Amino acid sequence: MASPQLDVDGIVETLEQIHQRGHSAHTVFRDWVKLMLFALQNRDDPYLEIVDNYRDRGDMDHPHGQRSVDLFSKAFGQLQERMAVTSADILGAVYEEYGMSSDAFGQHFTPHTVCKTMAEIAGVVNESNDTEDRQTVLDPTCGSGRMLLVAGRKQPEALFVGQDKDPLCARMTALNCCFLNLDAYVIQGDSLTVEFQGAWQTSYSSLGGSVRELDGEEVEELHEWVTDAFENTVEGDNQRSPDQGTDTGMEDRTPPVGMSVPSEQASLGAFDSSD
Ligand SMILES: C[S@@+](CC[C@H](N)C(=O)[O-])C[C@H]1O[C@@H](n2cnc3c(N)ncnc32)[C@H](O)[C@@H]1O
Repeated sequence: MASPQLDVDGIVETLEQIHQRGHSAHTVFRDWVKLMLFALQNRDDPYLEIVDNYRDRGDMDHPHGQRSVDLFSKAFGQLQERMAVTSADILGAVYEEYGMSSDAFGQHFTPHTVCKTMAEIAGVVNESNDTEDRQTVLDPTCGSGRMLLVAGRKQPEALFVGQDKDPLCARMTALNCCFLNLDAYVIQGDSLTVEFQGAWQTSYSSLGGSVRELDGEEVEELHEWVTDAFENTVEGDNQRSPDQGTDTGMEDRTPPVGMSVPSEQASLGAFDSSD
């Protein structure tokens, strides 16, 4: 059963209206996630490419406000509203709910309450903790990023690193980290073979979170940093005495790519429907 405590019916109904027009549920959800991510990065070309696909399939025949691009925009607004009220993984809950009607996707993520307990067990400390050290919180199979989100509510100052081999999941995590205004790297790639296909960086700002996709060189740098830091963490853990506790990740290492993004990207209100 999909996250029963989270009300995502309104969002699912909006996306369902697009689905009813003959687009697969997977296509609708994937395009919605991509549109949000491109809009937040002000990346007009890939954004308009998706819009054009719907236009080519008769989207302009619907009245203004009812075109698929308007409905995608409405669903984004509904998502932001629900996120503002709950700070929970609404996106993942929509994925769970919406994916149930599809053969092409659909899986279940860890319930929020369990995520909270796991964050506590892993030693993610509360905001009030007086240590100067910045924690790094890693989820190598992050799904929609729910664990990172829950950890981020406990320790918003930490650096978060999520990885998932599924591109849709990696994108959901990047969006979630941006929505929660966290400093994070989100990697699309296999954690076992340590291959990276792409990555996003989200950055904290007092104006709200921002997100950008890293270029090839930056992905390489990130790959080097993650593999080095992980090797050091494993070595460190092996040398650690049992009473020294558990690391949440790769503490005290400088991340490879600067944390700042252009200020024009630092707004969550960037999703415009296109005429
Ligand atoms: C059940 S979900 C858990 C997601 C999240 N950690 C949570 O607790 O909600 C498992 C995720 O692991 C990802 N996954 C499985 N094998 C992987 C691998 N070798 N590398 C990266 N991601 C992987 C899947 O794509 C899926 O999104």
